[in-house]
This record gives sequence, structure tokens and C-alpha cells, in this order.
Amino acid sequence: MTIKKAVFPAAGFGTRFLPATKAIPKEMLPLVDKPLIQYAVEEAKASGLKEMIIVTGMGKTAIEDHFDTSFELEILLKERGKTALLKEIEEVSGLVHFAYTRQKKPLGLGHAISITRNLINDEAFAVFLGDDIIDAKVPAMKQMIGVHKEYKTSVLAVQRVNKKDAHLYGVIKGEQVAPGVFRVLDLVEKPKENPPSNLAIIGRYILTPGIFDALERTRPGKGGEIQLTDALKILLETEDIYAYEFEGNRYDAGDKLGFLKANVSLALKRPELRAEFKKFLKQLGF
Ligand code: UTP
Repeated sequence: MTIKKAVFPAAGFGTRFLPATKAIPKEMLPLVDKPLIQYAVEEAKASGLKEMIIVTGMGKTAIEDHFDTSFELEILLKERGKTALLKEIEEVSGLVHFAYTRQKKPLGLGHAISITRNLINDEAFAVFLGDDIIDAKVPAMKQMIGVHKEYKTSVLAVQRVNKKDAHLYGVIKGEQVAPGVFRVLDLVEKPKENPPSNLAIIGRYILTPGIFDALERTRPGKGGEIQLTDALKILLETEDIYAYEFEGNRYDAGDKLGFLKANVSLALKRPELRAEFKKFLKQLGF
């Protein structure tokens, strides 16, 4: 069965970006001229997914407005003959369907996913954490769908990190079964020492519906939150899980430095900005 649905957990408070995120959702912070969450939605679209399920929370209505049609704005752009901009605005909300569900309290990423159960039913689905921006020739999720088609299991996106940074991630212990593909033997959330490998879990997942029962059995972990990694460990008791080392550059835009890096490198890829921006960076001495 093909994967049609994408879940975007977006109910976190985004404390690393305070005070910017006090009144504006982190997902709406712009990289060049598009909000963070739009990059993830575009990746989902480009990977063939048709139904976008966004988990929102308090103060997140700007996300819904962003993906809604803006009748007044579209009329104004039409009147002013700004057809390129109009097309871009229409494309944001076109061709796919959006559904929103609200997480009443930020009880963790695992909890945010668990509340989508009645929207997903009994099929495998994709999860995108919008903080992770992946710039890739073939969209990262499309690459993962290829792996899912072959192995029919949950698939976790992984990337190699310096062992000294492993404590920032969920890390897998895996057995390589094909180029870039690993059968997961164990998962450790933010290992304090001796990480089982340098393969860190990144914010893209394909999950089988078995994850919902696993989430129900997951007790609150660090910070009283229901952690997805803990649920994946429970799922691993009954189902195989694979990990895939995707091809592409990834930026952690939920972190200040990563956000700045993403802005600079994405701006340098824009034909209309590239030359002038490069000149400016040179002037700064880079
Ligand atoms: P983060 O750990 O990045 O938390 O969540 P955060 O609140 O977004 O940001 P910081 O760390 O406070 O700066 C990872 C993902 O899980 C979602 C977040 O929106 C983000 O996409 N999330 C987290 C939820 O949807 N609900 C939660 O209860 C927690």
C-alpha cells in the first residue's frame, strides 16, 4: 500500500527560539522567504504524499492561515499583475489536503503523534519534524518511501554525526543490510556516553500503524514527555524497524546556529540573491 499521509508535529513551544517564538510559532520563522514548515510540506508533496496532518497547539493559528487560501491577497496580486507571486501563493495550498488536530498540552513528540490515530487508521504514514530542513536532489522522504516499499516496515532517517554530538540525538545500533540501509537492533535516546554508533535519528520517519499501540504502552520519560524513541523501542519488540542513511544536506533549523546556516546556504542557492549575497559575505571577510 502506498503512503499517502504525512504528520507534522508542530505543537512544541520552541523555547530555543524565545523571545521570537513567544507570539509566532517556530514553524513560521522564515528561511529566506518561506516559513520552516513550508519546506517540509513541499518535501512531502514532492514525495507524492497527498494528505497533510498538522498537529498544532496554543498560539499556532498562523500555520492554518498560511496553508489556507487568502482570497483578498490573491485578488490584490491579480489586480497588480503579480502573476509569479500569485502562482507561488496558490501553490502553497494547492493539490494537497490539510487537516489539523490540536494537542491540548505539549506532552511530547510521541504524544503528538498518538493523537493522530483516528486520522491515520490502519496504514503506514510519514512524519516530518519541520526543524530538520533537508536539501536533497531526491526528496529525503521519497528516498525513504523506496526503502519502505522494499522492507514494508517502519523506516527511520539517520545521518552520521560526530560521536561527541551523539548525546543530542536518538542513536541506533544497526546491522547494515544494503547500501545505506540498516536493520535496527536497538535505539538509545540521547546517550550520555558510549553511543552504540554514530548513526543519529533525524526528523523524518515512516511509521507502521503498530506505533499507536506502542505509544499507548509508553510511559512518560525525560521531562515527563511521551518520547517517540521509547515507543519505537517497544515497537521493535514485535516488528522489524529499518533505518536509512538518506542522501542530502540537513540543517537543524530548530537551533540558532543551524537556522543561520540554513538561511545562508539556501539564500546562496537562490538565483535572484546569489551574486549580491556572495559579494556581501566577501565584504564581511568570508
Ligand atoms: P522539540 O524537541 O524541538 O521541541 O520538538 P520544541 O518545543 O519544538 O522546541 P524547543 O526544544 O523547546 O526549542 C520536536 C518536534 O516535536 C514537536 C515540536 O513541535 C517539534 O516539531 N512537539 C514536541 C509536539 O508537537 N508536541 C510536543 O509536546 C513536543
